[in-house]
Amino acid sequence: MRKRIRTVFGVLTMLFICVTSKAQDIPKDYLSAEFHEGRREAVRKMMPGNSVAVFFANPVRNRANDVDYIYHQDPDFYYLTGYNEPNSVLLIFSETQYSDAGEEYDEILYVQERDPRAEQWNGKRLGIEGAKERLGFTTVYNGSEFSKLDLNLQGFENVLFFDFKNDVRDSRDEADLFSLIKSFKKKANYPADYDATKQQLYSMIKSTEVENSANVAQILGRYMSRDESLKEDELLKGFVDAPDDKLRSDIKEKVSLKLAANNLNSVILGEIMATLRETKTEEEMVLLKKAIEISAVGQVEVMKAMHPNMSETEIQGVHEYVYKKYGAEYEGYPSIVGGGNNGCILHYIENNKPEVGDELVLMDLGAEYHGYTADVTRTIPANGKFSKEQKQIYDIVYEAQEAGIKASVVGAPFQAPGRVASRLVTEGLMKLGVISKEEDARTYFPHGTSHYLGLDVHDKGTYQAFKPNTVITVEPGIYIPEGSDCDQKWWGIAVRIEDDILITDEGPVNLSAMAPRTTEAIEKMMKQPSPLDHFKLPHLD
Ligand code: GLY
Ligand code: MN
Ligand code: MN
Repeated sequence: MRKRIRTVFGVLTMLFICVTSKAQDIPKDYLSAEFHEGRREAVRKMMPGNSVAVFFANPVRNRANDVDYIYHQDPDFYYLTGYNEPNSVLLIFSETQYSDAGEEYDEILYVQERDPRAEQWNGKRLGIEGAKERLGFTTVYNGSEFSKLDLNLQGFENVLFFDFKNDVRDSRDEADLFSLIKSFKKKANYPADYDATKQQLYSMIKSTEVENSANVAQILGRYMSRDESLKEDELLKGFVDAPDDKLRSDIKEKVSLKLAANNLNSVILGEIMATLRETKTEEEMVLLKKAIEISAVGQVEVMKAMHPNMSETEIQGVHEYVYKKYGAEYEGYPSIVGGGNNGCILHYIENNKPEVGDELVLMDLGAEYHGYTADVTRTIPANGKFSKEQKQIYDIVYEAQEAGIKASVVGAPFQAPGRVASRLVTEGLMKLGVISKEEDARTYFPHGTSHYLGLDVHDKGTYQAFKPNTVITVEPGIYIPEGSDCDQKWWGIAVRIEDDILITDEGPVNLSAMAPRTTEAIEKMMKQPSPLDHFKLPHLD
């Protein structure tokens, strides 16, 4: 069929030009060009003097044969540009640059070139004009111009970038990501044996005060024990094995010299982006709140629709239908719907149990709305009523979560919610006799309670004391797989409760509170009728 369509290409191209020249109907509530410009300015302010920051778009990844995965932009790249296409590179300069023609610029965006044939098959491209009009950039070129850019990267004090993951395909297009990265490496004199982890550890040594160097040596020792190539590095080995501060100081000097051997820096951008993305602007909060509320409504609708002969897949579908109904483009991560024992697998995504029966169903899902993702978990009894044992476990998790949320206040250490939740889970399990030694609690609660939330489900942040306008999750859980070393009556019970918490100067705000959390409120909601009660499809053999 493809061949036949291609023969009428000329006619369709004409039609295509007519269609695409009309204004597109798209949502109006994306992040504004001013937001992205402000974020680039914030990066510029945090960059060291005489430096350039280079950001690449995410690669296209292949699913099978000639089908790729749905494209998803790199969240840093999206944050700074709003550009949602692949094969693109952004340069931000700490100081104004001047072209040979005397034009000033302090940033350049390279985009995919407009191409009617490619756009007919794979969707509209913004191109240079679109990037200027829609995204507010002034200096924009097609990607093919990047290799021709006459920019002396050696002349900068620092070239800031994120190191590459080696998962970029060469499509033989001179403007694809593969070629953009190749050009960058050539311009930047990128050594073939560049090792970003080593650079990071060297940077750690360089910024260490003498009085803290023994602690840092211990931390480095742990990194090295997990990575063979690090163990062989003379400088790292020397620092970790050094018997005193004097020797560590000498090695610190050698490390500084080694770092100064080139101007590549794959550490600083990570710190800058973590600092910026940790706290949300008002504009971001509108989208993040929307993603969270959509996800909470998904939980509510599933509570109403749930019955024991639903499959995990169908339950997932109800959540995701609600997301789409509200215009959320994607799920922020693969949806988790685990009935009974399946809930004990923390990131269970098969979701293929044909009937959930009379067990608990753990549902951890998040809508992604214009890039921002929620992360909300509810655990509910498929038959509408918690059994005695299910409720006993659930109530421990609930109390742990309540205490964790209360501990999420400005100035508290990032670990505060986890510490209090962990203590309450341990006490609860001891009291029920599920464990007899406190240290065994970790078997049934093997994860932390919190991470940042934003453009990524596990968003970037500094993991320092809580700041206002930060959104985190608080998500304790208890998972007792079949065969556990406890009374069989607990087997197959898995409970996680996860809410998305905005940290403010006035205290924590639960943004996903619309979805009931107590056993009483859940049972009450499950008695409500659902529009799906009347949604019948024909039987298929
Ligand atoms: N859904 C992944 C998480 O809760 O972190
Ligand atoms: Mn989750
Ligand atoms: Mn989470």
